[in-house]
Amino acid sequence: MNKSIAWRSPSNIAIIKYWGKYGNQLPINPSISFTLSKAHTETIIHYEKKEKNNKVELEYLFENKKNEAFEKKVKIFIESIMNDFLYLKEYKLKIESKNSFPHSAGIASSASSMSALALALVDLEQQIEGKKYSENEFLQRSSYFARLGSGSASRSVFSQVALWGATKAQQESNQEYAISINETLHQNFKNYNDTILIVDSEQKKVSSRAGHALMNTNPFAEARKIQANKNTEKLLKVLKNGDLDSFVEICENEALSLHAMMLSSTPWYSLLKPQTLVAIEKIKNFRESTKIPVCFTLDAGPNIHILYSENNKEKVREFISAELMQNMPEARIINDKMGKGPQKIY
Ligand code: DP6
Repeated sequence: MNKSIAWRSPSNIAIIKYWGKYGNQLPINPSISFTLSKAHTETIIHYEKKEKNNKVELEYLFENKKNEAFEKKVKIFIESIMNDFLYLKEYKLKIESKNSFPHSAGIASSASSMSALALALVDLEQQIEGKKYSENEFLQRSSYFARLGSGSASRSVFSQVALWGATKAQQESNQEYAISINETLHQNFKNYNDTILIVDSEQKKVSSRAGHALMNTNPFAEARKIQANKNTEKLLKVLKNGDLDSFVEICENEALSLHAMMLSSTPWYSLLKPQTLVAIEKIKNFRESTKIPVCFTLDAGPNIHILYSENNKEKVREFISAELMQNMPEARIINDKMGKGPQKIY
């Protein structure tokens, strides 16, 4: 195969959490995330003409090695979108993908990998089928297909801050794709820092997919939907007015509510580790004693994302190494920050 296309796409950290879905990957509530910078996936698609048919011909390499599990997942995804990208019936693909972060870091990679794949597929559509999308159309279409691959991936297509899911508080918000909400972002959030404290890098025992499904029978599901909608409305205001104390409140409320949903599912499960609880307690104490508006959020896992503004960087980083990482010999950190979004490599 001598033709190829390559995209780099970042991971994102949700402040308002997507948890629970229905229909074809539609979210029960809106979510808002910060797009990251360092944590990203690079995806190359090599392509070559084949005999026209409805069968996906695909080879998938992850970090230079054949990966049957990923190949199967991507094959099912590509099969499901074949009628949207007609060139897929006439071309066979070899996809190579690699992450900037170690696979064992416990960072969810579906957002970066599925967004990189969707961007490359839509770009290839322009290249092969001669379609011409405006920048907005291109990003929207990529976000739409990224969502079908993994819900959180829909948000990674945009720089800085993205909103996925319909809310009456934001015009143009949509269930089927994310939108950028950068235009009105307050200066306080520019270059916002996210230090990821990796306390445990084991693969999680319950997948996000299974976690989302458990929301169907969670007795607090309706209350969670109301809470997430209210928090979305509040956060949209805070992102405009720069009120960092309110940001802290909303952000931690969302993180803990996400884990509360796991604890109150039947069967229940917990992805928190003792070190997670120790760390979040320390962050709270540090904030209360210094009045620095630093806060945490959690993904569906035990690792902690510590969020703080650029002007508090020095003090917070000192706290992280001097206090937070004490008695955690196994812990590692990745200093990431809000990023510029995906990039075409070639
Ligand atoms: C806790 O996007 O991984 O990270 O749509 O099944 O692929 P699928 O789920 P996924 O769920 C992410 C859940 C979360 C919160 C968030 O990113 O909004």
